[in-house]
Amino acid sequence: MVVLVIGGAGYIGSHTARALKAVGHEVIIFDNLSTGYEFLAAGFKLVKGDVLDKSALTSVLSGCDAIMHFAAHAYVGESVTNPRKYFRNNVEGGLALLNAAVDAGINKIIFSSTCAVYGVPAKVPIEENIPRQPVNPYGVSKLFFEQALEAYDRAYGFRYASLRYFNAAGADESGEIGELHEPETHLIPLALRAAAGVGPALQVFGSDYPTPDGTCIRDYIHVNDLATAHLRALEHLEAGKESVAVNVGTGVGESVREVISAVEKVTGKSVPHTVVPRRPGDPPALVANPAKAQSLLNWKATRGLNEIVSTAWSWEEHRRGVRVR
Ligand SMILES: NC(=O)c1ccc[n+]([C@@H]2O[C@H](COP(=O)([O-])OP(=O)(O)OC[C@H]3O[C@@H](n4cnc5c(N)ncnc54)[C@H](O)[C@@H]3O)[C@@H](O)[C@H]2O)c1
Repeated sequence: MVVLVIGGAGYIGSHTARALKAVGHEVIIFDNLSTGYEFLAAGFKLVKGDVLDKSALTSVLSGCDAIMHFAAHAYVGESVTNPRKYFRNNVEGGLALLNAAVDAGINKIIFSSTCAVYGVPAKVPIEENIPRQPVNPYGVSKLFFEQALEAYDRAYGFRYASLRYFNAAGADESGEIGELHEPETHLIPLALRAAAGVGPALQVFGSDYPTPDGTCIRDYIHVNDLATAHLRALEHLEAGKESVAVNVGTGVGESVREVISAVEKVTGKSVPHTVVPRRPGDPPALVANPAKAQSLLNWKATRGLNEIVSTAWSWEEHRRGVRVR
């Protein structure tokens, strides 16, 4: 199939593009490089363009069979202070893409959704059928797009897979590509940089949560397990099966303190850290129940925290030795 990977010069999109190529799909990456990097798309046809640019989209869509939509702004805090930026890119941009796809006669899309659509869940592990009540504009923008997909499916037979990622982490085993956000806000790269002495001491947001060690619990999913979930979702849609919305997580929760221990074990260095107050809106625990993805997509995570931290550490070491732009 010819797969258009929108946002394929970013972290998760670049890993998925490689996974698609490895199983024989033809990949075209479409990216405005706002938070992506040309070198992450090396080896692929890269079309530089913005999803809000209708004519650029229309020309790249012709000849494609399916879309994977990774492009979005994705900082929760920034979405609170600048919702306009988020609704413009994630909602207006998303709709522009959907409409151009329908007009081009494409009817398969895989969407990067998030556990942020659930907000603060009443029950953990999270099942897909609980109410979706996002608590920040980022989550609202993702829920809007999920609902647009549901409407387009009913009205136009547009088939989708909404993949609700939990915390993406880790890097490709090759060490050539990995996580690269500017600014970086994710726990594992920040802990690794603190351990290496190339970043500030890690801030631990709250140690008084109702969890066994008092720190927040999250479900860390290896980026290449996420990439495989996209392959399974594409096979599912290719087989003419119904649209799906599934959690993509491991089902295992790790606390901030457990992540710090894993980083210390892998690097052999201590992680300087300080405990600071909780961040507003951070739920104590977000862990997936991944059973639905396993039964509908025949997908299951195969890597755990140790592989996540080891591959992220190799990537951090590689990254410090190369020019990235
Ligand atoms: N990283 C996570 O833990 C996580 C968790 C849940 C969901 N997600 C979602 O997964 C997706 C990918 O996340 P990521 O961490 O790889 O982010 P990223 O910033 O590395 O990748 C996003 C890519 O999209 C491109 N892009 C953004 N707006 C665009 C536009 N208007 N037109 C064309 N290209 C555009 C960027 O340049 C970038 O290459 C996002 O939609 C994000 O909301 C990520």
